[in-house]
Amino acid sequence: MPTVTLARHGEVAVATLDNPPVNALSATLRGDLAAAVVQAMADPAVTALVIAARGKAFIAGADISEFGKPPVAPLLPEVLESVENAGKPVVAAIEGVALGGGLEVALACHGRVASPAAKLGLPEIKLGLIPGAGGTQRLPRLIGAAAAFPMMLSGEPIPAQKALALGLIDRLVESDAVGAAVALARELAARGAPAKTGGRTDRLTAADREAFEALAKEALAKSGEMPNVPALVEAVRGAFTLTLAEGLARERALFVALVADERSKALRYAFFAEREAAKVPGIDDSVKPRPIARAAVIGAGTMGGGIAMCFANAGIPVTLIETSQQQIDKGHARVRDTYGFSVKRGSMSEEARERRMALITPAVGLAAAAEADIVIEAAFEEMGVKREIFGALDRIAKPGAILASNTSYLDLAEIAAATSRPADVLGMHFFSPANVMKLLEIVRPAGVAADVVATAIALGRRLGKVPVVVGNGFGFVGNRMLEARTRAAERLLVAGALPHEVDAALTGFGFKMGPFAMSDLAGNDIGWRSRKARGKSAAVADALCERGWFGQKTGRGYYRYPGGARTGERDPEVEALIAEVSASKGVSRRSFTAEEILARLLDPMVNEGARILEEGVATRAGDIDTVWLNGYNWPAWRGGPMHWAESVGLDVIVRRLERQARESGDASLEPAPLLRRLAAEGKGFFAVRAI
Ligand code: 3HC
Repeated sequence: MPTVTLARHGEVAVATLDNPPVNALSATLRGDLAAAVVQAMADPAVTALVIAARGKAFIAGADISEFGKPPVAPLLPEVLESVENAGKPVVAAIEGVALGGGLEVALACHGRVASPAAKLGLPEIKLGLIPGAGGTQRLPRLIGAAAAFPMMLSGEPIPAQKALALGLIDRLVESDAVGAAVALARELAARGAPAKTGGRTDRLTAADREAFEALAKEALAKSGEMPNVPALVEAVRGAFTLTLAEGLARERALFVALVADERSKALRYAFFAEREAAKVPGIDDSVKPRPIARAAVIGAGTMGGGIAMCFANAGIPVTLIETSQQQIDKGHARVRDTYGFSVKRGSMSEEARERRMALITPAVGLAAAAEADIVIEAAFEEMGVKREIFGALDRIAKPGAILASNTSYLDLAEIAAATSRPADVLGMHFFSPANVMKLLEIVRPAGVAADVVATAIALGRRLGKVPVVVGNGFGFVGNRMLEARTRAAERLLVAGALPHEVDAALTGFGFKMGPFAMSDLAGNDIGWRSRKARGKSAAVADALCERGWFGQKTGRGYYRYPGGARTGERDPEVEALIAEVSASKGVSRRSFTAEEILARLLDPMVNEGARILEEGVATRAGDIDTVWLNGYNWPAWRGGPMHWAESVGLDVIVRRLERQARESGDASLEPAPLLRRLAAEGKGFFAVRAI
């Protein structure tokens, strides 16, 4: 089947692209498009060409899966050159998204028409790249660099309405974008030789350059690890200083270098891992999700309030339930205040806040959950409390309602057993702050019905989350691995490292915060309570809590926070206390390099990840990485813990773990059998999908 078909609307030819699911510009599509352009231009009866597309996207961009493979002709820049220099007008009819190379196709055309639902953007930056088929040259020429640069820097698509205001499209039409594009093509043909976007210089004024340079300076100061930001600045600057041909050549060279960069490879891997995570064994298209028109959230604490906001943001009415009027008033007010920050920042209008608040109905008592199609419990993290709530919900909730718990550790099967309908019970684990963090762990206990899991996945997407289905085991995927890291951090303190050294090693790696600053922020008492409930101990962490040093909220924890400071200072008393703990365990303290600290923090996480895979708690290594990238701020350009482990070498990790296990006498550090086997066979995690 050809991916492009040519038809005629009178004397205007229409090339319709059809490369499901999103018209990515694969080698075949590029070839077919180039051939269609040649054919239309060669036909004396044709005066102009329209490029249109079937399906939900106009064009989602270059085919990302081809990056890093040997290039196959014709390359996109060549195809677009033939469009721009076609000799007859070419007009893009944009319905759906025009992203990356897709927008670059439209930019090479001589006119652009879009429907109101269209979105236009250059998201290459999110893949560690820059536009590589003329975007950095043609977009500034069309709308000015001061407007074009922020679009390329953020990667966020803009709606058609805004594109019209910027001059990025010529016409916005309510319906029949193809018909309108044909009409525009006809008008352009009547005017004679088409004006080329790439030939324009009128928008590249001195004032535009000045505004661009100011934005570029700001972006460079914040670019951190990402080499594509300086590359983007350099490419866009070329629009002012180089001819179009030179600018395109420089852009291409920068793009090609970035494609080979490990950081871009990690981001591209993460893109596909996230999409693969959406494919869940036993849940195919034949399993239909249940309809969700109304929700209830139990518990109006920070978590419950945040979850209720997710529903309101998605336009789904939700009842927020507490045990007393006072509690619900407090929780409801907190939600209003949280929206208030967005209003103050200017990212939300007052009306939008009111619309969302109107979707949240505060209520006292579980009976208010009777009408909900899904109930999400976000109450106190204790099995007794959860079982009591689920027992009551069993009597109250309507038949077929989904009963979900937001528990972050507890056994879902035990919670489900408190009801007479365990097939309707599963975990929906949101991450704090719930209205911001993308991850949603969907916990699948053995007895849950497939359509209940499918509903949770579909709902997760509606809420704008990245759903990852995980098995029912202590801490599921994310928190179980986090606990391995927490134990490792405590071990490091006892062995000789200090809190600020451990934190610095992790922020140096790319995390926003180290484990101790994080624990001080969340409250050290949370882990303390959880350890006590499980009969576990951690000498340093317990000693801090026994002194009431819970972290920021008490003014001291691993660090001191004088006068309510948000950033901690080293605390000599804590450091002395750590030394005492080491002495009491007969450990002679030694110093650690940042590299050693990193290995000791991250290798045990990878080890736990390998156990999680072996036990089938995660379906694939990519699911684990998707969890860490979207719920725990793992630096995106490092691709997640399992991807990182492969970049280090599994054999190296095995050797380091063996040494740690030997030195510490801690058997939990022995390499997991799967890790050992893969290392011995010279294989990686990604060769053993769906273990
Ligand atoms: N290349 C290859 N495959 C792509 C793709 C692309 N550019 N965009 C999407 N896909 C695939 C996905 O992997 C998925 O495949 P699967 O069904 O086998 O898992 C399928 O298309 C559907 O994608 P989503 O699940 O993401 O569908 P949504 O409807 O949720 O979203 C979308 C659609 C908004 C187009 C989203 O897929 C997206 O943002 N795609 C990436 C866009 C992008 O980054 N484009 C720039 C590419 S780089 C470039 O163009 C370089 C150029 O300058 C030279």
